[in-house]
Amino acid sequence: MNAAAAATASAAAASAASAASAASGTAERAERYGDRIFNHGHAEEHARLLALADVLDPHSLHTLRTPKTPPARPVHQVLELAAGAATVTRRLLDDLPTAHVTATDLDGRFLTGLHHERLTVLRHDVTRDDLPEGHYDLIHARYLLHHLPDREHVFARIVSWLAPGGRLVIEDPARFSVEAAHDPRYRRVSLGAMRVLADRLGTDCAHWGPNLPRTAAAHGLTDVTLHTAVPTVTHDSPMGRFWHLSLRHLADDITALPGIEPEDTRSVIDALTRPGLIEPGMATVTVTATKPVEQSRGGRRP
Ligand SMILES: C[S@@+](CC[C@H](N)C(=O)[O-])C[C@H]1O[C@@H](n2cnc3c(N)ncnc32)[C@H](O)[C@@H]1O
Repeated sequence: MNAAAAATASAAAASAASAASAASGTAERAERYGDRIFNHGHAEEHARLLALADVLDPHSLHTLRTPKTPPARPVHQVLELAAGAATVTRRLLDDLPTAHVTATDLDGRFLTGLHHERLTVLRHDVTRDDLPEGHYDLIHARYLLHHLPDREHVFARIVSWLAPGGRLVIEDPARFSVEAAHDPRYRRVSLGAMRVLADRLGTDCAHWGPNLPRTAAAHGLTDVTLHTAVPTVTHDSPMGRFWHLSLRHLADDITALPGIEPEDTRSVIDALTRPGLIEPGMATVTVTATKPVEQSRGGRRP
């Protein structure tokens, strides 16, 4: 089956599952990330993730390389959750020449070409598949948790996989910068895209990101740091390219929202293809934190 056919089959399966779930009255969310929206078989999804990497990789890699305080333990085991197009995974293998890197994703399609003697690639659902407790010295998860309805529970799972003294780096978006945008159409359509993700997948672009420092502290982590960056959206900026591909992907769902005209969505997508528009994009919140040595629960390496 080619990628487009796989995406169609997956969408059909998602819609059948959704109908079955509705019929049986189960509380399961009808659609998950990747069933239809942002399916890795979609023709533009790899390019969309590479554009996101262009926006985020410089700061992610800087944060991963240069902890604000010296790490409490040497970094031997690294976990890159939901690696996506694996741009960070590749760089981590170069940056940490003695570390073993485990890269996971729900959909392994973009990870299949990755081979390295210090790399393990896992097809892994972070909401339900296990990993060894207390094992990883450094864990990074970017643009993952805000998409998961049970994100609080998943956060606790991630903390359990961290070794005592290990370091967590979590990055998620926040929409406050888009709420402050000047162009009303750009603002309406962009917030509409986030509404679609909230309605369909349970994505939280409002509170989860800005609350990450509190979440980290509530889970007993220490040395919590926060960095927030707001990129520029223009037709040729990395965030502009990411947003153009994201809006194209979600266009029909955005246009179906109350208060949005088809012309609104079309004109913003078009404005992102030529010079003129200049607005703030989604903010990215980067939080780092450390698992204290004394609070570990049986944190042994297996
Ligand atoms: C927006 S992309 C971010 C990719 C990458 N972390 C980055 O920042 O470039 C979200 C990724 O999360 C993955 N994902 C979604 N749900 C997941 C789950 N339950 N378990 C593991 N990965 C998941 C998707 O397949 C996708 O690769």
